Amino acid sequence: MENKEKLLDHDYDGIKELDNPLPGWWLATFYGAIVFAAIYFFYYHIGNGPGPKEELAKGLAEFETMSAVGGSGKGIDVDKLNAFFHDSGRIKDGGAVFQLRCASCHGVNAEGNIGPNLTDKFWIHGDGSLAAIAKVVTEGVGDKGMPPWGAILKPDELYSVVAYVKTLKGSNPANGKAPQGNEVKD
Ligand code: HEC
Repeated sequence: MENKEKLLDHDYDGIKELDNPLPGWWLATFYGAIVFAAIYFFYYHIGNGPGPKEELAKGLAEFETMSAVGGSGKGIDVDKLNAFFHDSGRIKDGGAVFQLRCASCHGVNAEGNIGPNLTDKFWIHGDGSLAAIAKVVTEGVGDKGMPPWGAILKPDELYSVVAYVKTLKGSNPANGKAPQGNEVKD
């Protein structure tokens, strides 16, 4: 028998055992698992590695920032709105969003159609400030047919279109719809 030197000297009902070494790859995963478990244990259980609660809190925080403009209209980032308002590239993007999403109801030049004229000084909702426009665009007006865009547009699209609408004030398009709401003084 060629494995004679590895043959162990016991014998169970004629079944003999060879003392073969475990293969290297097997030992590597075995010792690797031990090392990994030790590091894992010291980092997550003894040390201050993030536990499930921290992971949850982090995930929730990320979710809140992502959906900051969605739904409630809380958390509208006015600084970001201002930055977009002063960025001609963003205004241009906003114009494209407007043509795609808003022109059907508000008119190609926002002169008003089913929805009100967005170029005049009269506002039904709020005072025509960036934040007020963002609020009504985000939340919509449920029973009046203005959709809640916070759930539909990406945040950047929403901020762009709000900034774009703000630039239209006083643009005085042809066939402007009669003013609705309250006049807002500058
Ligand atoms: C399906 C039709 C429709 C679409 C599409 C629509 N709107 Fe409106 N929107 C309305 C109506 C109707 C109102 C008036 C709500 C009211 O009377 O309270 C309105 C109101 C508004 C107001 C408030 C005006 C005011 O005087 O207070 C803003 C701002 C506005 N829309 C912006 C947008 C923007 C931006 C989009 C595209 C992202 C958009 N709307 C898409 C129908 C629409």
